[in-house]
This record gives sequence, structure tokens and C-alpha cells, in this order.
Amino acid sequence: MTSPPLVLSARDVRRDYPVAGQPVHAVRGLSLDVSEGEWVAVVGPSGSGKSTLLNLLGAIDRPSGGSISIRGQDVARMGDAEATRFRLTGIGFVFQRFYLMPTLTAAENVELPMSEAKVPRAEREARAKELLRYVGLGERTGHRPFQLSGGEQQRVAIARALANRPALLLADEPTGELDARTGTEMITLLDRLNRDGTTIVTVTHDEALAGAARRVVHMRDGAIVDDVTVRPL
Ligand SMILES: Nc1ncnc2c1ncn2[C@@H]1O[C@H](COP(=O)(O)OP(=O)(O)O)[C@@H](O)[C@H]1O
Ligand SMILES: [Mg+2]
Repeated sequence: MTSPPLVLSARDVRRDYPVAGQPVHAVRGLSLDVSEGEWVAVVGPSGSGKSTLLNLLGAIDRPSGGSISIRGQDVARMGDAEATRFRLTGIGFVFQRFYLMPTLTAAENVELPMSEAKVPRAEREARAKELLRYVGLGERTGHRPFQLSGGEQQRVAIARALANRPALLLADEPTGELDARTGTEMITLLDRLNRDGTTIVTVTHDEALAGAARRVVHMRDGAIVDDVTVRPL
């Protein structure tokens, strides 16, 4: 049996924050491979470097050392402009606080990354509708964020993250602002996305979310201390 191709390969990644007096070593020589179709939950105490790692994997931030390859592209060496271009189509990012554009409708929010990627209007509109249907918001495409619940806003954020068909979906505490029931719905949606082929890395405190992932990576003090695949591909 041939193993699925790697989406992500990180080697000896370090990230030091130059804080006056005493630099913070947020990530200390971490290596991680993620194959196509995996769903990895990164867990660990607050301050263990989870968000720092996710930002490095998503080319939002650059490491102080080591290499990060996403589908063969070296994101650790990218300049800001190149990283911005890469993120637009290579990575889907979902944040705890949704970060939707308040003045735009759900459909317009989902279309935004496609507009930036110069996707023609008709195609953009059709894909936004299809994605919103997929996340269960087919009836809410014209609503603005303030007319949506937290769970609905997070669904729009997921649809937006998937707009340009990224190789990798990254989510930092995606259930962090949601109540238990809505959080459970979010986990069900992530599970469906993964079963339909999306490769996912989530950072989370939420045990239910970590329990649904295929693989759980434990971090402590900027390093991986445990890596368990619960549900192989
Ligand atoms: N921009 C920054 N400047 C300085 N220190 C930071 C910065 N961001 C995070 N840190 C520090 O790096 C460590 C890891 O933080 P973070 O990655 O946010 O952890 P987690 O997401 O696991 O809670 C913490 O000690 C935090 O205080
Ligand atoms: Mg964090």
C-alpha cells in the first residue's frame, strides 16, 4: 500500500520572540509531518506554543530556524508578499473569533478571497452558494454577521476558508467562542469536511474536538511530547 502524499513537512522549527531582556522560545526545534486526508488536533497547556506553531504552518509568521514545506513549497523562506499570495490559495485559516467583514453578507464574505484570487464573478457566486449550502447555511446567504449566531458565523468563516480550495485547513480554537451544542455541531462539520477529503490541523483546548480528530499531538514548552494516531487513514 502506498502512503498518501505529505501536505505538510516541518523540520526543526524554532520561533523565538525577541522580548527585551529575555527572549521567549515559543517553539523549540519541532518536527511534524501531516499526510493528505489527516485531521490533527494539537493540544497542550496555555502558552505551550500551539498558536505560534499554527501561525508558522499557515505562513502568517516566519520561523527563526528550521524549514516548513507545504505541498513542496518552502513557506519558511517566503517574503511577506509571497506569503500573502501563498496563503490566499494554499491555506484556509479559521480563528476563534471568526473575523468576518461586518458590512458584507455571508455570501460576500465567502466570495472575498475568490475576488482577491481573480475568480470570475459568476463562478465566485456559484461557489459561495455551494459552500454555504455545504455548511448548512443555504438559507442565510444574504445575512450579515450581526444577523447570525456565533455558530453560524463560524460556519461562514469555514466556508470562506475553503473558498479557494486550499491544500490545508488550519483552525485555532474554532469552538472556543461557542456554547456546547454549537461546538458539537462545529465538530460534526469538521468531521464531515475531513471525511470528504480536507486535510485539517486544529489547535484546541476542547476535549470533544480533540477526541474527534484522527490524530492528537501534545505540545509542552514549544515541543511535541506525544503524538498518537487514533483513527488511521
Ligand atoms: N508576539 C509575541 N511576543 C512575545 N511572546 C509571545 C508572542 N506570542 C506568543 N508569545 C509567547 O510565546 C509562548 C507561546 O504562546 P502561544 O503560541 O500563544 O501559546 P498557546 O497558543 O499554546 O497558548 C507564550 O509564552 C507566549 O507568552
Ligand atoms: Mg493559542
